[in-house]
Amino acid sequence: MSMATTSPHAYLLQNPNHLLKNHPSLNSNAFPVTSIRTIKNAPFRSISIKCAAPTATQIQDRSPGQTQSQDRVFNFAAGPATLPENVLLRAQSELYIWRDSGMSVMEMSHRGKDFLSIIQKAEADLRTLLEIPSEYAVMFLQGGATTQFAAVPLNICKQDDPVDYMVTGSWSDKAFKEAQKYCKAKVIWSGKSDKYTRIPSFDGLEQNPDARYLHICANETIHGVEFKDYPTPKNPNGILVADMSSNFCSKPVDVSKFGMIYAGAQKNVGPSGVTIVIIRKDLIGNSQDVTPVMLDYKTQAENNSLYNTPPCYGIYMCGLVFEDLLDQGGLKEVEKKNKKKAEILYNAIDASNGFYRCPVEKSVRSLMNVPFTLEKSELEAEFIKEAAKEKMVQLKGHRSVGGMRASIYNAMPLAGVEKLVAFMKEFQARHA
Ligand SMILES: Cc1ncc(COP(=O)(O)O)c(C=O)c1O
Repeated sequence: MSMATTSPHAYLLQNPNHLLKNHPSLNSNAFPVTSIRTIKNAPFRSISIKCAAPTATQIQDRSPGQTQSQDRVFNFAAGPATLPENVLLRAQSELYIWRDSGMSVMEMSHRGKDFLSIIQKAEADLRTLLEIPSEYAVMFLQGGATTQFAAVPLNICKQDDPVDYMVTGSWSDKAFKEAQKYCKAKVIWSGKSDKYTRIPSFDGLEQNPDARYLHICANETIHGVEFKDYPTPKNPNGILVADMSSNFCSKPVDVSKFGMIYAGAQKNVGPSGVTIVIIRKDLIGNSQDVTPVMLDYKTQAENNSLYNTPPCYGIYMCGLVFEDLLDQGGLKEVEKKNKKKAEILYNAIDASNGFYRCPVEKSVRSLMNVPFTLEKSELEAEFIKEAAKEKMVQLKGHRSVGGMRASIYNAMPLAGVEKLVAFMKEFQARHA
């Protein structure tokens, strides 16, 4: 077996007697092992590995936008997605023992002072990043954005209340279908006939003047359609609700335009398992009688997201990402980087004389998810395979639309997009 292609863990499992000191990864910073010892007479020949925390310089050296470790691929997955490498290294350094707690974050009581400091800091940093006004509650929940498809109507309206949905892609369609069970939901605009490639002008929207809320999906992850501006609810007492799962914290947002924002964390801000809800406090406390206790925002807000055991480690990771985004200069700076990456990729597609095509109308193209097809569709499988060989993975489009999709979230380094574009040009030169 070749050590060069095996991770230290896999290698050790298969060669328990072998000392790892010659494993190639140990010469890199990715897995800095300081000492290895075998435990004599242990029934399963246990091996104890002591991992050293990366130094502060090692962590700093890997800020987003820079070339990453040779061992890592460029991961263009739509979610769970790539995370900032310096955040992963920081988590690695704190995984075994967090600060002076004597234990890992995974082992802490969610009611202890250490975890409370983690969740409170995560909330405070998120509030700073998005400039969330004090009249809004922030909650770290579970169940994914999909659970919010039901929680939103259950909390914000009664069964007979009308609500409006703009359907700009698969996710807003799913949200609408779920809401229908709990209120009088209506689709006031659908992009289905155009294969979800555009967003209409807001002037022509036929909103119900009594709608309790107007729901949008701010960025359709599958179709690559992103709102650049937001509609205003016609009902002066109605609110705008947005699913921001796939563009959360990718740019500044005026939170005060929304009654509520929700997002699954697993694209821009953390691992899967955490769902973030930002909601105006006066909207809390009016849930329908049938609302399960866990889905009632009152339960969650009154208990500061700690009604039951929260996804502690995921929240900790989100906190590290928020710190990292602040260190980068906040969301204005992050948006600049995202615009630059997206521009490079869309320009390459548009300059390919039709070899590559992005079906989405230019004015609403997503900065996060870039779908594209090949004119010669029979080459798409080869494109994806060859890209993977070059360490650019997860470029296959969603099964419902086909083609390719490059998700270029905050943590995708510029170098990853540049490498993809260089590969696209080279692939075109060979196949045009
Ligand atoms: C925009 C959007 N909304 C909702 C969801 C569903 O999220 P979850 O898997 O967290 O339920 C996704 C998942 O990719 C998404 O991209």
